[in-house]
Amino acid sequence: MQQKLLDLKNDFLNKLENTTSPEQVEVLKKEFLGKWGKLQDILKGIKDLSVEEKKVVGPLANELKNEIEQKAEEKTLLLEEAKFEQQVEDEQIDVTLQFPSKKKGHKHPISITSELLEDIFISLGFKVEDGPQIEDEQHNFDKLNIPDNHPARDVWDTFWITDKINDTKASGKKQLLRTHTSPIQVRTMLKWDLPIKIIVPGRVFRYEQEDARHTCNFYQLEGLVVWEWVTFGDLKWTLDTVMKRLLGEKTELRFRPSIFPFTEPSAEVDVSCQICNGTGKVKGKKCSMCSGTGWVELLGAGMVHPKVLKESGVDLEKYSGFAFGMGIDRIAAQRFNVSSSRMFYQSRLKLNEQF
Ligand code: PHE
Repeated sequence: MQQKLLDLKNDFLNKLENTTSPEQVEVLKKEFLGKWGKLQDILKGIKDLSVEEKKVVGPLANELKNEIEQKAEEKTLLLEEAKFEQQVEDEQIDVTLQFPSKKKGHKHPISITSELLEDIFISLGFKVEDGPQIEDEQHNFDKLNIPDNHPARDVWDTFWITDKINDTKASGKKQLLRTHTSPIQVRTMLKWDLPIKIIVPGRVFRYEQEDARHTCNFYQLEGLVVWEWVTFGDLKWTLDTVMKRLLGEKTELRFRPSIFPFTEPSAEVDVSCQICNGTGKVKGKKCSMCSGTGWVELLGAGMVHPKVLKESGVDLEKYSGFAFGMGIDRIAAQRFNVSSSRMFYQSRLKLNEQF
């Protein structure tokens, strides 16, 4: 029996040697020490032994049991340690590793152009003003010499705020999405002391049929100068200087007589098309930006109408003013050589990311 126990021990140690996981050790332990295990099997024969032999085999079996338990535990610990080390090895983090940096995004071409314009105007002594996008009728129309029955109102296809809200409002107080930035002319004159020299960049809204040059919301930059005896010549110099600085010295400006209810005299100002260099043609085809004319209409301008000055409390004996409103989108299209300003609103990242 002693020999059997010794064989059992060797058998166990051999098999233990080959285990590779704590689970396998556990199974092995059961195989040898379990209720139906190998040791128990041997001990079944103990009852046939003499008392003397029992005295020897009993403690021996006990010793063997302890030894098996101890060896199993040692091996389990060893395997667990190795497993942990492997895990540490596998999950190692290299903090010095370089990750591709997240895209930060960048400014939209319209914002870039607006800021460039702001910088140029600020360098000429202008201040930057702001105003509400939801405007009232009075500021958008009435105070700008566009009364209720004035035909000019039809031209501005307007987005009115819902009837429910407007029904409760008195005439002149009805609300709309501003069709231009000119209401801030009036707001500023009523608010500030003279003289005034401001620009107002901002978003405006019109009910437009969309094409290469028209979108139903776009950005304008309004300008207003109210000073002692400013003239149309000052207006021309200002616009010429700004456009040349923005688009290049070769840029030409063309003033065409026009009508705006809030300026007199009025002009529309075109700039030589930067897409086709004023030729009207791109690769033999008609330039879509200027419809083949070589000129792009960029802004409306004029001397502030005396009625508007009066409405805003300006002393006509002493002051005169000029104003202009330019389309930032079109200027952006010109500056960045983009054939249709509508593309700026189509979330074309490939286009926008170039600037
Ligand atoms: N508000 C006019 C428009 O939206 C532009 C303009 C501004 C014209 C100032 C004259 C003076 O078209």
